[in-house]
Parts: sequence; structure tokens; C-alpha cells
Amino acid sequence: MLYRTILAIESSCDETAAAVVRDGVETLSSYLASSADVHEKTGGVVPEVAARKQVEYIIPVISETLTRLYIKVNDKVPADQKELTTFSKDFIDAVAVTIGPGLIGSLVVGVEAAKALCVAWNKSAIPVNHLVGHVYGNFLDTESSTPAKELAFPAVVLVVSGGHTDLVLMKGHGKFEYLGGTLDDAAGEAFDKTARLMGITKYLMGGPSLSARAFTCINHALANKLPRPMIDSDNFDFSFSGLKSAVKRLYSETLSFDEVSSLAKDFENSVVEVLTYKTMKAVKKYGAASLLICGGVAANRVLRESLKIACDLEHTPFFVPPLPLCGDNAVYIASAAFFNQNVKELDKIKADPSLGVMD
Ligand code: KG4
Ligand code: ZN
Repeated sequence: MLYRTILAIESSCDETAAAVVRDGVETLSSYLASSADVHEKTGGVVPEVAARKQVEYIIPVISETLTRLYIKVNDKVPADQKELTTFSKDFIDAVAVTIGPGLIGSLVVGVEAAKALCVAWNKSAIPVNHLVGHVYGNFLDTESSTPAKELAFPAVVLVVSGGHTDLVLMKGHGKFEYLGGTLDDAAGEAFDKTARLMGITKYLMGGPSLSARAFTCINHALANKLPRPMIDSDNFDFSFSGLKSAVKRLYSETLSFDEVSSLAKDFENSVVEVLTYKTMKAVKKYGAASLLICGGVAANRVLRESLKIACDLEHTPFFVPPLPLCGDNAVYIASAAFFNQNVKELDKIKADPSLGVMD
């Protein structure tokens, strides 16, 4: 049996999200609560605090998602029959949930909520790897993205988030081969740490601020002062922690506003050049029919533009999720569940914080 309308739950870190998606591509309902503001006060995500916030938000988030689903379904019903349409568990065919990687305390909340719904509604459960979920941000029907119908395999996937920077070969739905990844900091982590050490923002999520500052650069005085780490290495691995240290050596409070902007621009260019070069090397080596990117850093404008130009030169179709689907949410978890239909017995579904990109 094909599970078409899937309710998904995502709770791997500091976002609590639920969504209902039909046929893996049509978002019927989606809602998200974040505890990011709480973690700003402590200068980092405290796992115990994130887990408590998950407990606080999980029921309201699922409840709001089902209300929105009800409104959407009811909207399609002729006015004279509206009172006959009440929310029914029959709107949903299966429940999907992120099982890892992530913070164990946060994951457990979503996993147990999903299992409870399966028992109460007598539904099947579909466990989803969070990183595989990110990939499926490329498959949803939206106005701003290339239609996923055109997406052909094998595809090279660049996963770039706060916790991961991986290059993966996607041979088909659920068929992943790991090609390489970061040996130390993830690209997003490097953006975050560098933004803070340069005093660009005090917030944990530094990527968007650093990128915005780089955009203000007028005279690029510090162009090419930073290394392009591992750009010539004979593999698909990355390393970004040395880049952050190189920024630390060049940065000083005596730099002018434009020099700081220039340093930010060279940092962004370095990350983008390395990611673009290695990703395109993988595209060529594996004869990829498509390139997909995903994760929070996929929201970076310079990276999107750079990969688009490189893909156009190679005549390789390029897919990137719309901005709201780059960060964590449950929409792509539902999509991943639909395209893989990987139903498991409830007692086999457990939160697993250490899952890798291909598990
Ligand atoms: O995927 P994500 O929402 O969370 C996980 O890590 O799972 O990614 C968040 C990361 C943060 O490091 C953030 O600074 C980075 O994505 N990010 C960006 C941009 N938007 C978000 N980095 C660079 N440029 C951006 N525009
Ligand atoms: Zn994520």
C-alpha cells in the first residue's frame, strides 16, 4: 500500500515542527516553533533546555498543524456541505518522524509523540534520517524552485548545515553513497564562529549576518588574503576550522568598517569557492544528472549563484530548496517518508542521535 498523505514530526534540535504533505510534493499544512531565542541567552544550545522546550511545544505544534490541515481540507468543500466536514484521522495515511541525527533528548520527544499518534489512530510509522530529510527539501512543489519532476539520478548532493558538510551521491530514493565531508567544523559552524569573532553579530546564527556584511564591501582590500582550505586535495573532504583561525589572525579592532566587510567577503568567497570546486569535481567524476544542495547554508546567496553558474556551464540541472525549506522543518521529513515508504514496527523505531548521512 502507498501512504500518500503523511503527517511528519521533526524535533532533532531546537525547532519543533509538524507538517502534512500529500504525495511527497504538496504541502497541505505546516507549523513550527523554535526555542532559538532561549539558547541565545546561554550562548549555545543547552541540550537539556532544548529537550524541555520540545516537551512544551510538541502538542501545540501538532495541534496547530492539524487545525491548518482541517482549514485547508474544509476550504475545498462546497459551502453547503462544510458543516459535514470535521477533522478526521482518516485524512492521514501514516506518521513520519525524524529519528536522528540530533540531540537525544529533543529527538525522543518527537519520536514518542509520533508513536503515540500511531497507536491512537492505528497508523503506520515511517522513521526518517534528518539529513535525508534535508535532501527532500528539493522535491516539493513550490513556485520558486525548479520542478522536481525534472530531477534525474544519479544526483550529487551537497549537504551544508550548521552541523554537517557532506558530499553524497544519490543513486535513487534512499540510495546514498557518502563521498566526503568536513574533517572538523561544518560550513555553517564556520560562518557562525567567524561572525562572532569578527564582532559582526552576537547571535548564534551568524551566517546570514556575515553574508549581509560581506555584501556591503565597497573596496575589496583583503581579497584572496585567506586560504581556500583543501581545494586541491585528492578527495571530497573539507576543513573549515583553519579558515576561522586565519580570519582571527587577520582581524583586529583597528580595521576600518570596509576592511571588516572585505574580510567577511573573502571568508564567504573562500567557503563558496571550496564548496563549488569540490562539488563540481564530484558532479563530473560521477557523471551526475542533477546537483542538489540542502541545509541552512544552502540559503546563502553567493553559494546558490556560484553553483548555478557552474552547473549551467556543465549543462547539469541544479536544484536548491526555496529559502523556508533550507532550515529545519517537517515538510521535507514528510516528503522523504513518502518517496521511501520505509514503514517500521513501532518497537523498532528509536531515537538515534548518531545516525550518519546514509543510514
Ligand atoms: O540546517 P540548519 O537550519 O540547522 C542545522 O544545522 O541543522 O543550518 C543552520 C546553519 C547555521 O550555521 C547558519 O548560520 C547557516 O546555516 N546559515 C547561513 C545562511 N543562512 C543560514 N550561512 C551562510 N549564509 C546564509 N545566508
Ligand atoms: Zn538540519
